[in-house]
Order: sequence, then C-alpha cells, then structure tokens
Amino acid sequence: MKDIEILSVGPMYPASLEAMEHVFTVHKLWQTKDKLALLAEVGGRIRGAQSFGPYGVDTKLIDALPRLEIVANVGVGVDAIDLNATRRRGVIVTNTPDVLNECVADLAMGLTVATLRRISLGDRYVRAGSWLKGAFPLGHKVGGRTMGILGYGRIGKSIAKRAEAFGMRIIYHGRKPQAGVAHKYYASLTEMARDCDVLMVICPGGDATRHLVNAEVLKALGPEGTLINVARGSVVDESALVKALSDGSLGGAALDVVESEPNVPEALLNMDHVLLQPHVGSSTHETRKAMGDLAVDNLRAHFAGKPVLTPVA
Ligand code: 8YV
Repeated sequence: MKDIEILSVGPMYPASLEAMEHVFTVHKLWQTKDKLALLAEVGGRIRGAQSFGPYGVDTKLIDALPRLEIVANVGVGVDAIDLNATRRRGVIVTNTPDVLNECVADLAMGLTVATLRRISLGDRYVRAGSWLKGAFPLGHKVGGRTMGILGYGRIGKSIAKRAEAFGMRIIYHGRKPQAGVAHKYYASLTEMARDCDVLMVICPGGDATRHLVNAEVLKALGPEGTLINVARGSVVDESALVKALSDGSLGGAALDVVESEPNVPEALLNMDHVLLQPHVGSSTHETRKAMGDLAVDNLRAHFAGKPVLTPVA
C-alpha cells in the first residue's frame, strides 16, 4: 500500500506511527514548519488522514485534500473533526472507542479519591514543611457518597464500576434512560447535581453539549459538591465554574480538561480546592499504543477494500 499517501495531522504513539509508515507513505503535518507548503505539495495526493484529539480536521483542511477518503482519529472524541464537511464529502471517519475505557476510568476514579481525600494538597503540605507545624485538615470519606455521571456511555460505565467498588452510589443523566441499567436515571441534569456529591462529566464534547454544566447546575451541586471533568472543557461553562469556586458555592473540582487547552484560567492555578491535570485520560503507553494501532488498522482495512473496524456513526 506504499502508493497510498496519508497525512498525519497530529502526533501518535511512536510504535503505531512506525507501523503506519511501514504500510503507507506518511506526511507528518505536525512536524512541518510550513504547513501550507506541504499541503500545496502533497494535498492533491492524500487519500487518508490520521488525526489526534485537538489536532483535528477542519473544513479548510478537508478542502485542501480533494481525494480524501478516510479520517482515522486517534481518540474517541471527534469534536475537532468537522463531521458536516466529512459527511458532505462522503469521507469515512473512525475513532478509537473501548481501548481507552479503562485508563480514562482509572484517572476519573483517581481524581475522585484524590479530591475527596485531598491527596495532591497533602503532598504539597508535606513538601512545604507544613506537617512540622501541624496536622493536615480532614478530607471526606469516598464510600457512601453519590456519584452522578453525566454521559453514561462506555467510559461512564467503567467509571461506575470503579466507583461502586469504592462504595459509592451511582446515578446518571443522559439524553434518555438506558435499558437494563439499575442505577437511577435523571432527565434533569440540575436535579441530578442536587442529589449527588460528585458530578462526573464524561459525555462527548461539541456543540450539542456546550456549557451543559452551567451556573445553575454548579449551584445545585453546591458547597459540599465536587465537579470532575474528564471529557471536554467545552461541556463546562468555565467562567461560571471559576465564579462558583471563588465564592464557595461549589466545594471543589478536578479537571483533566479545560476550554482552551493548554491555557488554564489563571484563577484556578491558586485554588487549593482544585486539582488540575494536563488532559491525560488516555495517556499510558499501553492505551496510546492500542489507540494508535486501532487507527492504523482502520486505515489498513479501508484501503484493503474492507469495512473499517470502528466507524463514527
Ligand atoms: C485524547 C481523548 O485523544 O480520546 C479522546 O477523546 O480525550 C484523549 O484520548 C488525547 O488525550 C489527546 O488530547
């Protein structure tokens, strides 16, 4: 398949990239200084693109690739790909579901425990020598608390499994109740926020979910409540979040994602009741390799004339 030219739009796990380069002729846009020059030179020959999270494929890029047949995204979220444009052009889009469920859920549970038990704050306390001066303030028990999951999909269910093992009660909100799920469903996100201690955000990003977690939801979560976001920054109204955390109407937050990555609102950087992570839900060697390999397998299947493995509906 060496005659097939692929545009690598964003970085990918080295071993998976190697595998892709072994099969196809790959042009790495993310390593190129003069992107326009590269597109002018090879754009007309590109038949496949490999994207990665924020390194997406917008209308302009699709227009620069007239022979594009497939976009294989490394990541489950495809909010950085213009799906209207790909649909119009008949371009197939694939993502990498399932292979990252466990790692994202591990981080989500880690953030839950770390926030309630104030683990990163405790670490800073010891390093600053504060332990020598007095005992560390009490945290909160994890077991017995209620986790409200916004977006009860595959990753949401993996998080629920972990949270239940820690003795938490699960409730969930989504567009509709799910058949065969024993947990209580809430048609209203605000009502769920009122009834939970930890609001776990794990729904897709994009226009449909933009600022779903707004001032009203945060107020309902309340001064004893904790917001955890391992989905997309866009789902949370960030200025409402900063305000609620500043005036104490929200208890705390743990954020793996923010609205304008990697720019974190200055105000959050100095808050002890906020735990911050640099968007690392899927960032393990094992999972990033599985994601990269799945993207390559999708490209390989398509160009072998077979159905792709994980198309985006
Ligand atoms: C990102 C993710 O792809 O799968 C997703 O949608 O959010 C991640 O796996 C990755 O973290 C790059 O930002």
